Amino acid sequence: MKIKTSAPGKLMLFGEHAVIHQHPCLVTAVDLRIQVSIEKIETPMIFIETPRLHERGQDYSLSINDLFNDQQLHPQTKFIVASIRKVFSKYNLHHGLRIQTSGPLNSYGLGSSSAVTVATIYALINLFEIVLNKQRLFDLAYSAVLEVQHLGSGFDVASAIYGETLFYTPGQEVEILPLEQLPIVMAYSGAKVSTTRLVEEVEQLRSQFPEIIDPVFKSIGNIATSARYAILQNNWSTAGKLANINQGLLESLGVSTPSLQKPIMAARKSGSFGAKLSGAGGGDCMFAIISQETRSKVEAAIENSGAQVLHFAANVEGVRLEIEHL
Ligand code: PMV
Repeated sequence: MKIKTSAPGKLMLFGEHAVIHQHPCLVTAVDLRIQVSIEKIETPMIFIETPRLHERGQDYSLSINDLFNDQQLHPQTKFIVASIRKVFSKYNLHHGLRIQTSGPLNSYGLGSSSAVTVATIYALINLFEIVLNKQRLFDLAYSAVLEVQHLGSGFDVASAIYGETLFYTPGQEVEILPLEQLPIVMAYSGAKVSTTRLVEEVEQLRSQFPEIIDPVFKSIGNIATSARYAILQNNWSTAGKLANINQGLLESLGVSTPSLQKPIMAARKSGSFGAKLSGAGGGDCMFAIISQETRSKVEAAIENSGAQVLHFAANVEGVRLEIEHL
């Protein structure tokens, strides 16, 4: 039996960094899907092929007996192996597997780790006919992500599972926002240092100035709450102003860079409602809130500033089953 699943990438809209401290955030799922296909094999081995390994003429294999050995996880397969570990230990499974992933080689920091984790776990539970609701799927996938990267609010895992646009507060029920449209332009500013490093730098700032940084986090959480309301009302002009304030607070945390600020300023000057960075900062993506009339002007201004406009649809479906062969 072979199962194929896919899960979307994500774009953080409001609330990054503060969400680590239990404040709410808004995230939208983007149509940069990672596919995972898994079949059972008789050999007690796990074989994994990914586009990156394929590009280098490599593949990866692991004996089932070594699955839980605390060896250094391979960088190209760590989220997949952590996912198998979680499912196999929870459900006491030992079967050999052949796994193939596919998706774009460049994921622009749009959440390929959470997408591959969620798609792998969803494929495994279907393959072994385990019934799991979305909350339990989240718990498993989030624990796999934490095993690899040790920190993270789980917003990206929730986005890969539920899709659409979410109001997410760690430890609380996810709210799916019923949106008809999400008028944004997103763009890639270039590579960044790791999310873990940026989160640690912000944490250091907080431990040095807790009485200053905690209120900044609180304000960012309040912005996410106000933006939820504005978006539900289709009030994009208010959402844009909130994006600009959120960007100012992220600058105060030291996570914005010239490669992000240039397209953000270009988007504001060319008639967007507002613009901000998305995610941990230090590079990766920004987005602008636009009207259909200003879209092409804003896109051209962003491109002229040196960033790359990305044409992935937002507010798309979460994890899904693609194919099942008996
Ligand atoms: O850099 P990204 O897109 O993975 O986003 C990180 C967002 C943070 O709030 C900084 C971390 C988190 O897990 O919420």
